[in-house]
Amino acid sequence: TQTTRIAVTPGDGIGPEVVAAAIHCLEALRAKHLLALEWTRFPWPSHAWHEEHGESWPTDALAQLKAYDAILLGALGDPGPINDPDRYLLSDSVSLSPLLEMRKGFDQWVCERPARLLPGARQYLKDDRAKDIDMLVIRENSEGEYVSQGGRLRQGTTDEVATQMEVFTHRATERIIRYGFEQARKRAAERAKHERVRTFKTLDGRSCESQVCVITKRNALRHWGDLYTEVFEAVSKDYPDVATHHELVDAACMKFVQCPWAFDVVVASNLQGDILTDLAAVLSGGMGVAPSCNLNPTDTDMPSMFEPTHGSAPDIAGKGIADPTAMLFTTARMLEWLGQKDSKLAVAGKELFDAVAADLTEKGSEQRDTQEIKDAICKRLTS
Ligand code: IPM
Ligand code: MN
Repeated sequence: TQTTRIAVTPGDGIGPEVVAAAIHCLEALRAKHLLALEWTRFPWPSHAWHEEHGESWPTDALAQLKAYDAILLGALGDPGPINDPDRYLLSDSVSLSPLLEMRKGFDQWVCERPARLLPGARQYLKDDRAKDIDMLVIRENSEGEYVSQGGRLRQGTTDEVATQMEVFTHRATERIIRYGFEQARKRAAERAKHERVRTFKTLDGRSCESQVCVITKRNALRHWGDLYTEVFEAVSKDYPDVATHHELVDAACMKFVQCPWAFDVVVASNLQGDILTDLAAVLSGGMGVAPSCNLNPTDTDMPSMFEPTHGSAPDIAGKGIADPTAMLFTTARMLEWLGQKDSKLAVAGKELFDAVAADLTEKGSEQRDTQEIKDAICKRLTS
């Protein structure tokens, strides 16, 4: 097999600490399974880089990263020692965060954020049924509210008008909804294998083993709401085995808290998905355990990017107390993704997931140092 090459971008804040834990686990797995796996570090902390070069990342960052099979990212966004978050945002040259640059530049049009309440994870909802929370939120990652079109008229006056355009294409809508149905099928097949079959009712009373819920705000945002609705209905015809559901985003927020266990796959627009996935992360144990990935399933020349949902948490950075769990779940997902080309990587990914989950089951959300958690997981991998 050809060697799989990973670009590791630790970023800033707690990024380098949690990434160090991921590298240790990768080393252990590589030695154990003789994986054809290599990685290269790109230490590009955004504030420090900006300090020195006047931009948040090297201008040729994307060109450098494109040569890799995947990007493993820690966290970005620490505003730096002067502790002025606005400074980072105000500079013209950093108008788009490197994160958004990557998603766009590599056309990572799927953002997958699974939210499953694993044993040991912090349970914020008191209801016992919370243990059954197991959803996959799929966020449209290429357009919508994030196209960055618009501007400010009469800026600096009290007559100022700011416009921010949203763009929804049939092409991007179709592919994300279809992707959602495909994942629903896969999840149902996986559950059937483990005798964990779930049942969802269709409107006409049939029982299905999976469901896709599409999110819009079509009662107010008519145009793309109608486009999403029509495309959802059309695509669903190809998946009669998958139940369909539609929620308005505000009602979805309510139901995520009221009965999150009723959801399976959720497909949402870029911004609505961004908001819903923070909520979903809390329902499934919090930012400390929430993985995320930005995928380009269509163009194998483009690297996909794997990052935990959490940010750079500058307040606890450098103290060695950041929880690497989310980073390690993310790393497991990366290996599973790369397993499409080299099946040994998928096996390693599954092993890493199981080790992290077992550690969580045993220790729960007990306060432990980064090092301690990493050592415990590495030990499980090597024993
Ligand atoms: C996320 C983050 C980013 C987003 C920010 C940092 C631009 O919140 O990955 O969810 O909005 O997509
Ligand atoms: Mn977010």
